[in-house]
Amino acid sequence: MQFDSASSTPDELVARAAQLREEINSANRLYYVENAPELDDAEWDARMQELLALEAAHPNLHSNDSPTQRVGAPPAAGFDEVVHPIPMLSLGNVFDEDGFLAWYKRALDFLELDSAPMVCELKIDGLALAITYRNGVMEQAATRGDGESGEDVTANVRTIRSVPLKLEGESGTIPPVIELRGEVFLPNSKFTTLNTERETVGLPAYVNPRNSASGSLRQLDSSETAKRPLDMFFYSIGYVEGPEEISSHWDTLQAIKGWGGRTNEWTREVSTVEEVMAFIAKTGEQRESLDYGIDGVVIKIDSLALQHRLGFVGRDPRWAIAYKFPAEQAETTLKAIHVNVGRTGALTPWAELEPVMVGGVTVGRATLHNKDEIDRKDFREGDRVVIQRAGDVIPQVVEVSSKNKRSSDSKPYVFPDACPSCGSETAQSEDEAVTRCVNGACPAQFERLLEHFASRVAMDIEGLGERVSQDLPRLGFVSNIADIYRLHERREDLLELDKMGKTRVDNLLKGIEASRSQPLPNLLFALGITGIGSESAEWLSRRFRNLSAVKEATEEELLAIDGIGLVLATTLVEYFAIEQNRKLIGDLIELGINPIDETLEPSADHPANGVTFVVTGRLETMSRSEAQNLIKMLGGKATGSVTGKTEYLLAGAEAGSKLEKAQRLNVHVITESEFIAFMDDGIVPVSPDLGSSDEEENAPLLS
Ligand code: IVH
Repeated sequence: MQFDSASSTPDELVARAAQLREEINSANRLYYVENAPELDDAEWDARMQELLALEAAHPNLHSNDSPTQRVGAPPAAGFDEVVHPIPMLSLGNVFDEDGFLAWYKRALDFLELDSAPMVCELKIDGLALAITYRNGVMEQAATRGDGESGEDVTANVRTIRSVPLKLEGESGTIPPVIELRGEVFLPNSKFTTLNTERETVGLPAYVNPRNSASGSLRQLDSSETAKRPLDMFFYSIGYVEGPEEISSHWDTLQAIKGWGGRTNEWTREVSTVEEVMAFIAKTGEQRESLDYGIDGVVIKIDSLALQHRLGFVGRDPRWAIAYKFPAEQAETTLKAIHVNVGRTGALTPWAELEPVMVGGVTVGRATLHNKDEIDRKDFREGDRVVIQRAGDVIPQVVEVSSKNKRSSDSKPYVFPDACPSCGSETAQSEDEAVTRCVNGACPAQFERLLEHFASRVAMDIEGLGERVSQDLPRLGFVSNIADIYRLHERREDLLELDKMGKTRVDNLLKGIEASRSQPLPNLLFALGITGIGSESAEWLSRRFRNLSAVKEATEEELLAIDGIGLVLATTLVEYFAIEQNRKLIGDLIELGINPIDETLEPSADHPANGVTFVVTGRLETMSRSEAQNLIKMLGGKATGSVTGKTEYLLAGAEAGSKLEKAQRLNVHVITESEFIAFMDDGIVPVSPDLGSSDEEENAPLLS
């Protein structure tokens, strides 16, 4: 019977809208998630049209989780930033069985276990997304961004049919707030159609499905995203409020599926290394037949409790690893060899190639690494060469093809002996394969430094990309980093440049202003000191707290930082000894670029701070590595052997020679429960000299 909205009561309208939403949602789920369509296109369309008309005529029927929201919203001005409640981290990579075995052994050693069940999944080559549901309704979707914060792409994600707008399930089975994470992708089959359409309307084709997924998801006009057939696989739960009842990764996937989220059907539970290798081999064979790009297999320890114990090292979890597939190769012609000058003066050769498809991407440039590599492999202009590409890695020239035929006038390539940018001398040190321009004032080096300084992971100055980093020094606007912060005084001069235009000039100046609030680690990293990456910048920042203190750091102080060795310490001391660099730091501080690191040291007032421990024997509730990590986190030292400096020996079961030595040296021996009370609650074990030496009698202290 036809529903007649004109003669219906408000309650009937609400009920009808609910019924239509229910039918469309259920049809969508069957179609997109379960691959088992129920309604044909015409039936689906009729329901959608009716619902759209109802909502248009009765705005009070509007609802964010209505399937009509999937058609997209009006264009947005930009994306808001979303800070991830739990960072979205990356995965470590291995490339062969040995690499996988080494990872698995490290995890088992850490846990002191002989084996641990795992889950094998496909590594989808798309974009990571985090979607938050409040009371079961999609509230926000964010891209991964730099892992700490991403972009709010909610309106766009609402248009993805396989993403539930509302989680299914009995009330009480869905946590009040839950963040589901996964990978968005564009199916390969749709990619070709999309590109053909783009070309017909004169738009540039996307290079690969991954870029097209990213481009589609970052449309400011979500009705444009709605036209792109994006899809998504969920693979984990991020932030949750409410009871956490799930205890394994496998159960996580089952729960997500139960709530209506699409999970990948190839995922398997495995318990042996052989099963993992068989999964990888099978995936490799099937790879070509899948309708989405994958670049490997992800292996995860199944138990969430074990995942929690394993934790992270740097940005990578110890509980998961990506097994990357071998690089894809192709043959092409090396048209010419060019040389670039990098930020530290390194001269890097690159190959201009006859464009060729490798692993779904057209490649026209590839790296040749360094001078020695060219000499050793005798790459010459005009050669047929083998190139390869693995995941996001820059394509590289591997070797001269066995089918290469050289003409009689082919000559070995001669690497330039002067800097192609400033013409200065170059030098090749004995221990490194790199040829460098020795001119500290080389313009090309400075241009790269500027670009690095402004990059997203450094000072994040919008508008100061590759081109502007070249133009500003060339046109005499900046000759050192500090000059950037004086640029606002020359706004009028900038406006006179044909190239820039008012909006771009003002955006650049705004970007520069905004960068003043970047934290100290970013500034330290931005300076481009050889060997200082984001992580070591963070250590320096935490230890010295401000720029002047870093500048004055002695080699001894630097060496005392965990992770900083002699090479880095020397480089830093040398960098800050150069007058020009000292002046730069002084100028930056004077210009107000002087961030202070106020991160609280969690360990500062913990009684374990600065205390030396040795851990021995078998512990009940944790492994020795975990105990050592705890000690370090709280600022203590965990050393390997008992000496006169050892303050506590944590002795588990079957403690051997270390226990004997500790007793000989009168080192305070503590039990695991004393240790836990010490670490967790700061209860310092009573010394046997002061109190009773009987451990039983110490016990009440802990309860
Ligand atoms: S798990 C702690 N599982 O790979 C990291 N990631 O290299 C947890 N990816 O940013 C990630 N398929 O975008 C995981 N089955 C899968 C994946 C997957 C693709 C992506 C994801 C992540 C990147 C890490």
